[in-house]
Amino acid sequence: MVSSNYNFEIPLKNRIFANKIKRLIYMNILLLGSGGREHAMAWKIAQSPKINQLFIAPGNPGTSTVGTNLPIKADDFEALKTAVIENSVDMVLIGPEDPLVKGVVDFFKANSEIKHIPVIGPDRFGAQLEGSKDFSKQFMFRHNIPTAAYLSVNSDNIDEGISFLSTLNPPYVLKADGLAAGKGVLILNKLDETIAELKMMLNGKFGAASKTVVIEEFLSGIECSVFVITDGVHYKILPEAKDYKRIGEGDTGLNTGGMGAVSPVSFANAEFMKKVEDRIIKPTVDGLFKEGIDYKGFIFFGLIKVNGEPYTIEYNARMGDPETEVVMLRLKSDFVELLEGVANGNLNEKTIEFDNRSAVTVMLVSGGYPEDYEKGKEISGLSKIENSIVFHAGTKLLDGKIVTNGGRVLAISSFGNSKEEALEKSFKNAQLVNYDKKYFRSDIGFDL
Ligand code: AMP
Ligand code: GLY
Repeated sequence: MVSSNYNFEIPLKNRIFANKIKRLIYMNILLLGSGGREHAMAWKIAQSPKINQLFIAPGNPGTSTVGTNLPIKADDFEALKTAVIENSVDMVLIGPEDPLVKGVVDFFKANSEIKHIPVIGPDRFGAQLEGSKDFSKQFMFRHNIPTAAYLSVNSDNIDEGISFLSTLNPPYVLKADGLAAGKGVLILNKLDETIAELKMMLNGKFGAASKTVVIEEFLSGIECSVFVITDGVHYKILPEAKDYKRIGEGDTGLNTGGMGAVSPVSFANAEFMKKVEDRIIKPTVDGLFKEGIDYKGFIFFGLIKVNGEPYTIEYNARMGDPETEVVMLRLKSDFVELLEGVANGNLNEKTIEFDNRSAVTVMLVSGGYPEDYEKGKEISGLSKIENSIVFHAGTKLLDGKIVTNGGRVLAISSFGNSKEEALEKSFKNAQLVNYDKKYFRSDIGFDL
């Protein structure tokens, strides 16, 4: 933050001038979202020498320690516009996918009062990379990007879908085309069960999201997440990460939003990452450009390594959560500088540096998650934490106390000279924080 105390002795005319100069150098940024990803981004942005004021909408008790929370829902675009004007916001950064898919960028572009304000994130069309599995598979095939074989099915071609399934080996992968809160992917072992599920999906099991279903060949390998930031022409690769999606130790049980993450990822060595860049990242960014998609923001490549070769499982139009809670630790460069490069289209002129240490995060969740769980449990022990950074994911302030407010509650991130050293810190601190029915996985990083 920039102190303005010195203004008192300065005449008004000079003060206005000084403020104008200050605003040329220092920025007001508004970050949209309220999870651990957004707290990690806010934590990093707040360290930038370029920041004047950081706003987070709606944010959480964690983000309020590094910026100013604004009580705006992530999809209330009108309220967002008012806040942007009232707070002289110079740049907006979008955390989650929902506002992107709903067209927050298009909303800004179509509004004369705010269209000059850069919004970091793709428009509604570009966000289909995440918002429509059918769109993203077609895109990958158009640009020869390695991915699983697939067929898109709707109520008109169910028979074709069933024939395609019969040509595949189990397990079978069914994906709702649209956003389904992370629940729209089914992996099934039996053909008859898969055909029944396919019919249920097409009949609205996931609402409108599964009116089209993508049937995919199953790929067997080890997964990791790779992120780029792009101005639509140039890109920079951010530190890669591996997240742990299942609720149970040894990667068992239901899928969650993510129970922890590790960066770097040992199997994503230089040789593998070169293949990823040449075969996946470059063709994706070039493909977006060639197709006239003005994509400014993040691309999250969900990858799988099969016999040493990278394949794309999915794209997301945003950063990962909890991956951001390790990526921001390992990003040494000024994040705001990179965001400016995206806004101004000169990302190629920016440098990006990583911290060579390991970073890990362990997610503390509510008992019962990802199924039903209770909220409002008082959290204690936060002040005992040492040598880790706590990012709030699902918390809120109630009568002056911090209480649980989601399935994923806190992400405990740490650095270490090895991932083991970093994990030791996170696990130790995970024990010091308490609330009723706390749960975390104590095997994050076990497979690396
Ligand atoms: P997605 O939402 O597309 O990332 O799918 C969720 C998870 O399902 C992925 O992280 C993978 O673990 C798994 N998955 C999706 N597609 C495939 C596939 N074609 N082969 C194997 N596993 C897959
Ligand atoms: N951690 C996976 C995701 O953000 O989708």
